[in-house]
Amino acid sequence: MELVLFSALDGLPMAVEGFRDLDVIVPSRLDQALRLLSGPRVPDAIYLDDTRGVALPDLWRAVSTAQEAGARVLLNMSGSARNILDDARSAGVAVLTERDPTAVAAWIGLQLGLHRGATTRNTPIIAIGAAKGGIGKTFATCVLAEGLRRRGLNVLVWDSDISNPGLVPAFRVPSSAPSYLHLIQRGPSHWNPTGIQPFIYAPEHTRSANNWGAINFLIGSHTVARAENDVRLPDWQSFYQGVTTLDTYDLVLIDTPPDYLRRPYATHVLQAGGTVILPTPPGARERMGVGHMLDHFREHAPERLEHCALLFMEPERGVTVTVNDVAGLFGRRYPQVSALGVLPRAPKLASLADEHDGYISMIDIGPHSAFTQAVHRITDALCTRVGITPRLPIPRSGPIARALAHMRGERAYTLTTASMA
Ligand SMILES: Nc1ncnc2c1ncn2[C@@H]1O[C@H](COP(=O)(O)OP(=O)(O)OP(=O)(O)O)[C@@H](O)[C@H]1O
Ligand SMILES: [Mg+2]
Repeated sequence: MELVLFSALDGLPMAVEGFRDLDVIVPSRLDQALRLLSGPRVPDAIYLDDTRGVALPDLWRAVSTAQEAGARVLLNMSGSARNILDDARSAGVAVLTERDPTAVAAWIGLQLGLHRGATTRNTPIIAIGAAKGGIGKTFATCVLAEGLRRRGLNVLVWDSDISNPGLVPAFRVPSSAPSYLHLIQRGPSHWNPTGIQPFIYAPEHTRSANNWGAINFLIGSHTVARAENDVRLPDWQSFYQGVTTLDTYDLVLIDTPPDYLRRPYATHVLQAGGTVILPTPPGARERMGVGHMLDHFREHAPERLEHCALLFMEPERGVTVTVNDVAGLFGRRYPQVSALGVLPRAPKLASLADEHDGYISMIDIGPHSAFTQAVHRITDALCTRVGITPRLPIPRSGPIARALAHMRGERAYTLTTASMA
């Protein structure tokens, strides 16, 4: 059965997705919905509500068009226009006044005689979030992706921070790489695995080798990221739903933008069943930013707080507060939120990677450093959290390897970070 869902109701596409034998199309504009109704294959049903801010006469016209085309019409009005529901009911339209997405989805299922499917495995999604810029989101995304790849896992990294795509320089993404912003412009009917596939960038330097997994990317290229191409939240959410159905990845990491009120991507990931990691440097401003984010989650996804984890970031030299000081603070204030580990500071490795001619992971510059070992521990903890079994063991760092590393001068990193590991 094919259902057109014309709604901006947060979480509704995801709630409807669990029905068996149902294809859901989520157009963002009414004219796109109408085009589907006048196309060669009329969808079986259309759900409309008043959350997309469409004028009432236009919405009413869509109802008539759908009925004439032979589609079943489901109408949910909670705003001031709900007085049209009586007329709609007399015209044979199924009507509802409800704002809770789970309740709306259940009603849709009931109306269309749908059943919940045996839950198909959706790819685990992990958003790296923060309410403040420069806190280490992109940095954490890079090292986690590399850590996961070394465990034999295939990772899709989605750069959702389109106005400041930090992953582009980090992974040396060329301007010729495809931009998913073009795919967003094509409309929701393309936001499925077949449509998304050509927009995935699979660079040579992070492809699968040595049994390792690959890191592939969804990049919102800077050259396409103009104001008129801005991604509206309902579109981002529908696109997200499409990404969750990709079955070639073990997990998806999303680098999110810091303007969490306008673009609450991490909140959506949490609400939609995913995991959120918050890089947490212990400085006063940074921990205030993390606190704002956690308060936001507590308000919008209180029952999902335990799917949010703090990734403590060792502070720069000279910062007097320690990770231990703030870990206790967060633990008391947000007891459901746990810690994923502590990422040591490794400015030398970071700088060597930055200055390297072409892409190289910090993990490969200092494979036996305390930094790399912490990355492996954090990656392992993350796999356990999201229920993924890595295909490869944690890369070992035996005494011989360490001794050689010591001779090469890697010990410097080990010593400066040992107290945090
Ligand atoms: N553990 C670390 N060791 C060395 N450098 C680090 C570490 N963590 C973060 N950095 C550095 O801090 C800087 C800011 O990090 P990053 O760009 O990841 O922040 P961000 O949260 O993505 O910022 P934005 O909001 O601007 O996208 C980067 O230059 C990064 O290399
Ligand atoms: Mg960034």
